[in-house]
Formats: sequence, structure tokens, C-alpha cells
Amino acid sequence: MADNELKHENFDFRGFDVPDLKAAAMADAQNEQDLRGDRGGKDKSKDKAAKAKGKGKATQDKSSSKSGKPGKGSKSSAQKAAAKPAKQTRPGLFDPITLRELTVRNRIWLPPMDTYSAFARDGRPTPFHYQHYVSRALGGFGMVIVEATAVAPEGRISPCDVGLWADWQIDSWRWIVDDIKAAGATAAIQLNHAGRKASTGCFAVGYEGQTVPAEAGGWPTVAPSEIAFGGLDKPRALSVDEIHGIVGAFAAAAGRAVAAGFQAIEIHAAHGYLISQFLDPLSNERDDEYGGDLEGRSRFLVQIVDAVREVIGEDVPLLVRVSATDWAAGGWDLDQTIALSRILKEHGVDLVDVSTGGIIAGVSVPVKPGYQVPFSEQIRTKADVPVTAVGLITKPKQAAKVLARGEADAVEIGRAGLRDPYWPLRAADKLGVPVADVPYPRQYVRGAY
Ligand SMILES: Cc1cc2nc3c(=O)[nH]c(=O)nc-3n(C[C@H](O)[C@H](O)[C@H](O)COP(=O)(O)O)c2cc1C
Repeated sequence: MADNELKHENFDFRGFDVPDLKAAAMADAQNEQDLRGDRGGKDKSKDKAAKAKGKGKATQDKSSSKSGKPGKGSKSSAQKAAAKPAKQTRPGLFDPITLRELTVRNRIWLPPMDTYSAFARDGRPTPFHYQHYVSRALGGFGMVIVEATAVAPEGRISPCDVGLWADWQIDSWRWIVDDIKAAGATAAIQLNHAGRKASTGCFAVGYEGQTVPAEAGGWPTVAPSEIAFGGLDKPRALSVDEIHGIVGAFAAAAGRAVAAGFQAIEIHAAHGYLISQFLDPLSNERDDEYGGDLEGRSRFLVQIVDAVREVIGEDVPLLVRVSATDWAAGGWDLDQTIALSRILKEHGVDLVDVSTGGIIAGVSVPVKPGYQVPFSEQIRTKADVPVTAVGLITKPKQAAKVLARGEADAVEIGRAGLRDPYWPLRAADKLGVPVADVPYPRQYVRGAY
């Protein structure tokens, strides 16, 4: 396997481009400069005024500059800010959001990120998972979405993925879920089947970016069609009966998640795992009811959505993560994602978590700060469904702008949240949100910014 293929596969597994991170960080700095440039000196003082006023700054950006009266330039920015009506046209990062019966305390969410740390290879989370997730809950994240969790052992991305494929796994999740909730955050979980991208390596096992051989604990993979992903082993095509079985596995895992105390369920239909393998015409060549046109390719996902809803009941929010494009000609694209999102909404999906890529190996992705936000905005507008935006959203003002512009209903902070579990608390300080409105753990209030 050539080196550059390996790099692309690294990207594809995780929905981001590791090798381009340095360039992205530079672009990020540039973006921050541009944001400041857009606003000019006036906005700097507006930030200060907002800081004095506290919460709600994020929603002022666009609407206030539109409604501002140029003739009153003699007033100071602080006076102008004070004179403006306090009404918020759009929610800010620290405003709650309600999905069905669930109110999430803010709109800064931790996206699912596989930690490959179920070291006993039995799908059960470890003390690492407890520390990792509960820290982010203490750090102020609104919704903590636990990483890709396998609905079947052969659906694990790696041997060290967590799982909920059996009842005996339920109890191992409770302490994590309980303490995420005790910290005031919402505990959600992403359910996944990796399909042709299953049985790959990870740091604890080796074989990263490759298929783990049977002698090292790997297993044969399955997919809609016998088309391999990059240099991974060729999968076997699933029979219709097996497809029905996997629909049932998603539903059963969702039921176990709710039994463990999770408050929201996310179905992983992105990043080239089994569901997106069905969606994308480049990986689905079936000629039965699970292939062909958009309706056929979406059937597997829609059946999963219906089966999961049946099990979790009407009160629990159901999220679906999509790749809005595979970045490949002739494949899955934004128009199909919008059409799919409309269908998902009709089937009771409460929010679409918008990512991209990971489906087709070897594509080039224009990674830069906020590069996936335009996809969220289009899906939100055209499918009229709540969405999250994710992907190199690293700066508080950048995140606030996504909401202020109506590009998403919540933002997800991934790698920046790995670097800093307290990202939301730090963001609140940068945005001038009063401490009383920030989700500090009681124990940490004396250390507030
Ligand atoms: C270590 C790591 C593991 C990831 N695992 C998952 C996963 O389990 N499920 C998923 O949908 N996305 C996964 N992703 C993608 C992230 O959820 C997120 O979409 C991506 O990192 C881009 O956001 P960011 O720029 O804020 O990090 C992973 C990303 C990283 C860095």
C-alpha cells in the first residue's frame, strides 16, 4: 500500500485529515484574523460592551450590524450596545435547546470520537472512558455524545471499540452515564456498524489503517456489495435476511442504551461505515430493494430509524450523523443528503449531525476552519430540520458566529475538546458570559475565570 493511500485512509476513518492539520491550524489563525477584520475596531469594543452586559453576545453579531444606524456615530460603541433592544433573534452558545422531552443545557456539544480503549476487546468501557466523558461533562459541554458503539461484534471498527450488542454490557455503562448526567450534561451515544471498514487496527492492537488479520483477532467484514475500501480486505455482500438482522441489532442496542440511562441516541450514518456504504452509489451496487435509487439506498437507514424509534419510545431524541458528501464525483452529495434529511424528518428524526467524507478512499478534502458548516446550513435551511455543525470549529467567536448566522442549532467541538475538556468554560470567558450563566461544577466555582 502506498504511503499517500495510508494517509487518506487515516483521514477516512475519522472524518478529518490528519496530515493537513498544521495547514489547517494556520488557516484557522488566518480565519480568526479575518473574523476580527470583518468586524473592525468597532466590534472589539462591542465585545467589551457585551462582556459587561453578559450573555447573548453571540446573537447580536449579524442582526445588530444590519439594524445599526450609521448616523449615530457619535455615540460610543458601549452606549450603542446598551441602547439596542436586548431581544435575541437567535440563540447563543449557552442557550438551552429542547428536543422532544429533553432539554440540553447549552449548544456546545462533544461529538462522538472513538477512543479505541475497550482494551479487553469485549466492548465494555473502561476507567479511561469514565474519566474522558465525565471530564467533558464537568467541563461544561451540553451534550456528550459517546463514541461509535458497535451494535454487533463484527460491526466494531477495531477490536477495541465499545459495544452494546449484548445485555451483559449494559451495567458497564451506568457509572459513566450517571456521572455525565450528575455533572449536568446530556448523555448521548452513537450506535454504529462499521461494515467494510470493520476489523481495522488501532493503537492498542497495531495494524492502524489496515485490516487486522485473523491471527491477531480480526474478522471477515460485510457490506452492501463486494467492494473493498482502499487497501482493506474485500467484504462479503450481505443477504437480505442479514440486513434485517442488523436493523434489529441497531434497535436492540438502542434499547440497551436507554436501559443504561442514555438520554439521546445517535445513529452513525456517516464516514463510510455500513449505513453510508448503503447510501452511496459508489459502494452500493445492489439490484434488490436495498440498492438502486435514493429510496432503495436509504431503505436500510430508514428501517433502522423506524425500528429504533419503536424501541426508545416517543420521548427520547433520535439523531442521525450523515456525511453530506463523499467528496467524489458521481457519489453521495449534498442534494441527496438534503433529500434524505427530509425523509428522516418525516420518520421522526430530531436532529441531523452534519459531517462529510470517509466513504470513498483517496479523495481530496478541502479542510479548513469551519469547512463543513456550509453543509449544515444548507441542510438546516432546505430540509427544515435542526442540525449540528462540526469540523475545525475551534474558537469561541467562530462557534458563536455559526449560531448567530443561523448555520446550525448547536456546534460540536471535537479535537479542540480533546485538547481542552473545559473548552466551554473557557469559551464563556472569552465571550463575556457571566459566571452565573456558565455551567461551572459547584466545586469549581471558586476557580471561575
Ligand atoms: C480521535 C477521533 C475519533 C473519532 N471518532 C468518531 C466516531 O466515533 N464517530 C464519528 O461520527 N466521528 C468520529 N470522529 C470525527 C469527529 O466526531 C469530528 O467530526 C471530527 O473530528 C471533526 O471535528 P473537529 O474538527 O472538531 O475535531 C472522530 C474524530 C477523532 C479526532
